[in-house]
Amino acid sequence: MAAIAGAIWIVPADGARAASGCSVQRIADEFAKILDQRAQCEKNPKLAFCEDAEDYDPFLKPEEAIAAWQCLLDKGAMDRGFPEKTGIASSAFKTWKAYNTRPYLSGHLNRFTDENDVQAIYVQNQVNDIGGAYGKYEKSGTMPEGSVLAKYSMVLTARGGTIELAPVYFMTKLKHGSRKETGDWRYEMIWPATVDLSKVEADTDFSEQLCMGCHEEFGRKTDHMLFMPDEVRISAK
Ligand code: HEC
Repeated sequence: MAAIAGAIWIVPADGARAASGCSVQRIADEFAKILDQRAQCEKNPKLAFCEDAEDYDPFLKPEEAIAAWQCLLDKGAMDRGFPEKTGIASSAFKTWKAYNTRPYLSGHLNRFTDENDVQAIYVQNQVNDIGGAYGKYEKSGTMPEGSVLAKYSMVLTARGGTIELAPVYFMTKLKHGSRKETGDWRYEMIWPATVDLSKVEADTDFSEQLCMGCHEEFGRKTDHMLFMPDEVRISAK
């Protein structure tokens, strides 16, 4: 699906994350070069690379995205971020089936930038057993009660190529007919325990209305679900 305009905050400001110890050196090097080009462009805006340097976005190669997620697991960042007190967030990533072949650039949470930096959000979808129909993607129909869809997210920061945890999003299917206004879904978002919310500059307020602004509008025919791009679906393997 194409990117949906209208981002929501999500990315903690610098200093709000505990260092996971994970990074992608290629991105760090690439961005160091971009910063150097930008400095040159301040003096001479007509240089050939100035436009590209200004619009720079960091993109992970498929194998880099897989390695980054694995690094978060291996270094215990997931366990520290989602300890037992975070409920299903602490176990879903370990035990639920993944429906994407690799973390992919989210269609909505995807470009946060300030003067000297730029971040990108990569996400990973996992669903509990009851929600197995999710694997039929657009043909899933109305999901059965008790289905829980999880979307974990990690943030790539161009400066240093660092990878850190960002919130996990959940959609839980309630009793059919019990909450018509949300399509019988409960929307939730859980911040990693390692993020110091007092240091997050953007508005961290949560409302289901915000979630529904996209999920209801773009998911009318798919029970509020929006899925992931075709090329990362497990069926596309
Ligand atoms: C700006 C639009 C937008 C908003 C707002 C939004 N989402 Fe999503 N959501 C998406 C898109 C697009 C996808 C497909 C995966 C991707 O590209 O990240 C998605 C996927 C998901 C999924 C995976 C299940 C599925 O639909 O296939 C969950 C769970 C989820 N979102 C929960 C939430 C929650 C909880 C909120 C509110 C905090 C929220 N979303 C707000 C656009 C949005």
